[in-house]
Amino acid sequence: MGISQNEQQSITDLVGQYQALPGGLLPLLHAIQGDIGYVPDSAVPIIAKGLNLSRAEVHGVISFYHDFKTSPVGRHTVQVCRAEACQSMGSRQLEAHAKQTLGIDYGETTADGAVTLEPVYCLGNCACSPSIRIDDAIYARVDRDRFDDLVSGLSSEKGAAK
Ligand code: FES
Repeated sequence: MGISQNEQQSITDLVGQYQALPGGLLPLLHAIQGDIGYVPDSAVPIIAKGLNLSRAEVHGVISFYHDFKTSPVGRHTVQVCRAEACQSMGSRQLEAHAKQTLGIDYGETTADGAVTLEPVYCLGNCACSPSIRIDDAIYARVDRDRFDDLVSGLSSEKGAAK
């Protein structure tokens, strides 16, 4: 997927700001993600050239840190807890249902740009497993029906789920 001219300019500007900073790659990547929401593949050669690194080095850092996203994220982020307490209460089945319902895998975004699906490892809500988070809200004891209820409003942009 291509990036807009504005995004390209932002990346070039940010590379200019960070290229003289020792160890500037990580803060630069965070700055790019903070500015345009993700680190597009097309940014890699610009970063590599600006920081005098190989493309492989830049790719390596982006893929090592799971916080970096390499494609645009959806308007909402749905996270399914994969940690032990939630797994013991059926989160594996719930995540399979989530992937099937949304038609995407972890790290992907629905075609309408509404939802990005991510795994998460404990939401601090273990007593009420299985838990999910939608944007900033955590939901407890989520079964398939509740998941469907929570997610159904996201695509139609009727607002956050309750
Ligand atoms: S294990 Fe899922 S919230 Fe803690």
